[in-house]
Amino acid sequence: INSEHVQMFKAHELLQKLYHHLLVHTKEGQQALQYLHQRGFTDESIEKFQLGYSLPNWDFAIKLLQKRGFSLPILEKAGLIIKNERDQNYFDRFRNRIMFPILDAKGRTIAFAGRAIDEHDSPKYLNSPETSIFNKSSLLYNLHYARSFIRKKQQAVIFEGYADVISADKAEVYNGIATMGTSLTPEHVQIIRRMTDNIIICYDSDKAGILAAYRAGTMLSESGCEVRVAHMPNGLDPDDYIKQFGSDKFRNDVIGASQTFMSFKMDYYRMNRNLQNEGEKLQYIEDVLKEIIKLDSAIEKDLYLRQISEEFSLSLEALKEQEREMSDQGS
Ligand code: UTP
Ligand code: MN
Ligand code: MN
Ligand code: MN
Ligand code: MN
Repeated sequence: INSEHVQMFKAHELLQKLYHHLLVHTKEGQQALQYLHQRGFTDESIEKFQLGYSLPNWDFAIKLLQKRGFSLPILEKAGLIIKNERDQNYFDRFRNRIMFPILDAKGRTIAFAGRAIDEHDSPKYLNSPETSIFNKSSLLYNLHYARSFIRKKQQAVIFEGYADVISADKAEVYNGIATMGTSLTPEHVQIIRRMTDNIIICYDSDKAGILAAYRAGTMLSESGCEVRVAHMPNGLDPDDYIKQFGSDKFRNDVIGASQTFMSFKMDYYRMNRNLQNEGEKLQYIEDVLKEIIKLDSAIEKDLYLRQISEEFSLSLEALKEQEREMSDQGS
C-alpha cells in the first residue's frame, strides 16, 4: 500500500469526524445545523451520511493535521488544502460550508463536497478536485450504502444531487446513487450494469435535468439497460418534492409512476416542437419514427405506431411504410 494514500485516507477520516462534531455538538456549527433542519434533513440522515461543517478559518484543517504529523504537500495532493502561488502559503479549501463526505465503494472517505450556507456564496457546491484516490468519472455517491439494495431489488435510481440521494434515503428509497454533478460516463454505466440492468433516472424536472435525463437514458439504454424516467411537477427536484409532498407520495407518484424511456422521449420531442405547426408536427412524427425503428420488439413497434396513428389521424399503413423506408435508409 502506498503510504501517501494512507495519509490521504487518514486525513479525510479525521477531518470528516471533526466536521461532523463541529456541526452536531458546537456553537460554531449551530447555524449550519439549523439550515439543515430547516431544509428537512433529519438527525438520522445527518448521522448516516456523516454531514459536517467546516469553520470559516483559513487554516483549521492545516493546523489540526499538521499537529498530527501530516505532510502539507500530501494534503495538497489530497485536495484538502491549496497553495497560494504568490506567497507559497497553504490555506484550507473548505471554509464555512456544510460538508458532505464522499465515500468510495469500500466506504472510505476520499473527498468532500462543501455546500455554501449563504445563498450568495459561489459555487453552491465546492467539490474536492480529482486526486490519485478520487476519480470523479467513476465515482457514484452513496454506492457504498446502496449497492446491496440495488442488487436485491434489481433496480437502481440515479439522482442529480447529494441532497436528493439523502432525502430519498429518508423516504426509504435506499437504492439511490448520484454522479458528482457531472454527466454520466461510460465508467459509471459499467459499474451500474454490474449490479443491475434496471435503472430509474430521477433527475431534476427542470430544463437542464430533462436534457441530462435524455442523455443519460440514451447511454444506458444503448448499453442494454432497461431505463425508466421519473418526473416531478413544476421544475422540482426530488429533495424539494419530498419536502413538499412527503415520502409516500414520492415513492408512489414519482418513483412508482416512472415512465418507460420511449414514452419519456416522446414527451421530450414534443416539448421541443409546436405541434400546431404542420412542419413541426411532421418533424415530431419523424423524431418518434426514428426511435420506433430502434426498438427490438415488434409488439412495441406496433404499439407506438398505433399511438401516433391515433393521435395524428394517420393511417397505420402509411406510418408502417414510412418506418420501413426510414429503416432501409438507416441500414
Ligand atoms: P443542483 O443545482 O440541482 O443542486 O445540482 P441540488 O443538488 O439541488 O442542491 P441543493 O438542493 O440546492 O442543495 C445538482 C448537483 O450538481 C453538482 C452537485 O453534485 C449537486 O448536487 N453541483 C451543483 C456542483 O458540483 N457544483 C455546484 O455549484 C452546483
Ligand atoms: Mn454523530
Ligand atoms: Mn439541477
Ligand atoms: Mn437539484
Ligand atoms: Mn435541491
